[in-house]
Amino acid sequence: MKAIVHSHYGNPEVLQVTTLERPVPKKNEVLIRVKAAGLDYGQWHLMAGKPYAMRLATGLTKPKQRVLGMDVSGVVEAVGAEVTRLQVGDAVFGAASRTFAEFTCAREDQLCIKPERLSFEQAAASAISGVTAFIGLRDVAKVERGQSVCVIGAGGGVGSWAVQLARHFGAHVTAVCSTSKVEFVRSLGATSVIDYTKAPLPTDGSFDVILDLAGNRPLSVLRKALAPRGTLVLGGGEGGDRYFGGMGRTLRAALWSMFLRQRLAMLVGFVKPEPLQALADILGQPGVTPAVDRSFPLEEAADGMRALVSSQVRGKLVLRIAA
Ligand SMILES: NC(=O)c1ccc[n+]([C@@H]2O[C@H](COP(=O)([O-])OP(=O)(O)OC[C@H]3O[C@@H](n4cnc5c(N)ncnc54)[C@H](OP(=O)(O)O)[C@@H]3O)[C@@H](O)[C@H]2O)c1
Repeated sequence: MKAIVHSHYGNPEVLQVTTLERPVPKKNEVLIRVKAAGLDYGQWHLMAGKPYAMRLATGLTKPKQRVLGMDVSGVVEAVGAEVTRLQVGDAVFGAASRTFAEFTCAREDQLCIKPERLSFEQAAASAISGVTAFIGLRDVAKVERGQSVCVIGAGGGVGSWAVQLARHFGAHVTAVCSTSKVEFVRSLGATSVIDYTKAPLPTDGSFDVILDLAGNRPLSVLRKALAPRGTLVLGGGEGGDRYFGGMGRTLRAALWSMFLRQRLAMLVGFVKPEPLQALADILGQPGVTPAVDRSFPLEEAADGMRALVSSQVRGKLVLRIAA
């Protein structure tokens, strides 16, 4: 089968098209004929091997796992002996590993049936960013109907989900993005928009929840925009130093939070079966729709990775697999 591999860390040039053996599913796994695979910042970090601290897990000098990719959609081609819920021919989406390939294996509980209203490309843009936004809003921030939620980085992969899901939970959403994404975030349902190139965050403590996905703003700036008993969820932010990335601010927030009435929380968006199924249920109805900006053929994965970090993308990017 065709796959994208990287045998050393670096920029997108390290990604090569190659031919590998088709994987064989374990007892609790299914073999998926991949239709589309989502691109996300996690894959960029794995490709680049940065921040360096992550190499303790991913391989010190070269990547242990040569095929990238987590988000997936496709059709079940074969099932392991202990698989009960899925059958050959089912259209599925969810999280796996090594999805930048024509076939991959995934645990049954990491997959859901693809809602019919979604294309494979939309479905492949769902598990990583959608579940991250979902957990951040429902489980970490515990967003309630009528609350005021600010999403920073609203025009991006996770932010485009967060705006829609916060609206789905009944919140008033303020989206923070650059000028080029103002109309896009409005189209997702943002109640109001702050173009951060023209205006700073408010300092009146008006947000019950801030979901911070970009910009690495100082905690003091974010806290001034947050209500006295509000919740700040730190979900991302590129930059920081090359050893620990943006983790320094997150660790400071965890320490501060012990002494404050405001809650400063970290978001770790692992794809778990319950939130994935809850997201699939939401996606089964009109309302929330994955925002796919563009797709690239598998063979052009390197171009996709370049586009991912260009700040030009509205929503998500995916690879499409033609096999
Ligand atoms: N915690 C987790 O489990 C988890 C899971 C997935 C992703 N993440 C992290 O979440 C972050 C966002 O991921 P993503 O996939 O959404 O990335 P993305 O698609 O690149 O989106 C980031 C967005 O932030 C905007 N932005 C850049 N600078 C900004 C600033 N100063 N203020 C406000 N917005 C700004 C960018 O566009 P504009 O500047 O044009 O508005 C872009 O739309 C990444 O750091 C990623 O690693 C964390």
